[in-house]
Amino acid sequence: MILLRACARLPKVPLCVCGRQLGVLDLCGCSCRRGLKVTVVGAAGGIGQPLSLLLKANPDIDVLSVHDLRHTAGVAADLSHICTKSVVKAFEGPKKLKAAMKGADIVVVPAGLPRKPGMARSDLIGVNASVAADVAIAASDVCPGALLAYITNPINTIVPLAAAILKRKGTFDPNRLFGVTTLDCVRAKTFLGDAMNVNPQSVELPVIGGHTGTTILPIISQCKPEFKGEEMERLALVDRIQEAGTEVVKAKAGLGSATLSMAYAANQFVCSLIKAILGKSEEDVVEYAYVESDVTKVDFFATRIKLGPQGVMDNCGLPEMDEYEAAAMKCCLVELKKDIELGYKLSDDFKNRECE
Ligand SMILES: NC(=O)c1ccc[n+]([C@@H]2O[C@H](COP(=O)([O-])OP(=O)(O)OC[C@H]3O[C@@H](n4cnc5c(N)ncnc54)[C@H](O)[C@@H]3O)[C@@H](O)[C@H]2O)c1
Repeated sequence: MILLRACARLPKVPLCVCGRQLGVLDLCGCSCRRGLKVTVVGAAGGIGQPLSLLLKANPDIDVLSVHDLRHTAGVAADLSHICTKSVVKAFEGPKKLKAAMKGADIVVVPAGLPRKPGMARSDLIGVNASVAADVAIAASDVCPGALLAYITNPINTIVPLAAAILKRKGTFDPNRLFGVTTLDCVRAKTFLGDAMNVNPQSVELPVIGGHTGTTILPIISQCKPEFKGEEMERLALVDRIQEAGTEVVKAKAGLGSATLSMAYAANQFVCSLIKAILGKSEEDVVEYAYVESDVTKVDFFATRIKLGPQGVMDNCGLPEMDEYEAAAMKCCLVELKKDIELGYKLSDDFKNRECE
């Protein structure tokens, strides 16, 4: 374990023969791992399946491990017929969680209940806290160096809860634990792009804070290209970005929440983690994510993050804000503080839990 941890701090280079990457070679000289392994927990679900499909298409993944309570044999058989390099491995049930995560470089977690119409994300915590706790406990035991990305809602509470469990286990590394808020950025780009009649891919704006209602803070004053609409239009855009998840829940009328757009967003986030691990990109690898930080007076906050082989390399901090956004930020911090404290409190329920 000591050797592996020491090696994990050194840069890694892809090990290639005839253009095919066989693994990742640590510059310490030993080949500490054979290839890049990504585990999806909740892989048979509404997000898990399309996300696993997108990850199967990623040429940098060597092993794609799919875990769920059920149906992963079928998902894996189906995915395994796709002619890309990665090997797909299926794991089913709580007893197989550790086997699924063993030695993973990245664990992405779209497991747990989604909202139904009329539900708030906070209504999910009863069930989803337990799912998130199991993953944190298993990560501590079988892949303490993995980058751990939670999609499970409510993100604002789930990530502090996981952090508290990892701390108790002595495996917490603030650079390796993420709440995935990429979908808020994807939505903000889309809606601003539509409003300005430009390609959404060309739109850049910070979306900071958390991942519920008013804790989602799109900083439209910093949008590039500049948003020149009326104040009323800007407020309507902020409201739409904050309530976009509910828009999908209502449209699906009881059949779940955002899955396809979430899979797109999560794939973007995981691809960035992979790029950062492999160090292949000449440009900075940058994403917004909900991480532990000291940029505000609350312990967790989503900001722009520069990613490196060990996860967070640099937290870019808060963007400039106008008066309206600064006031919204104050309300956001009040909400976030409550959500984070709830996560810490709930983590006590799992003090004696061990994963099988
Ligand atoms: N972060 C975001 O922006 C965002 C966006 C949309 C949805 N979500 C959240 O993602 C989660 C999943 O949503 P979905 O639509 O895919 O739900 P879903 O019900 O379609 O799929 C969830 C899957 O998780 C599995 N699961 C449940 N408990 C598990 C456990 N202990 N171990 C392994 N697998 C387990 C279920 O069997 C199911 O296949 C929800 O909590 C939802 O609120 C987050």
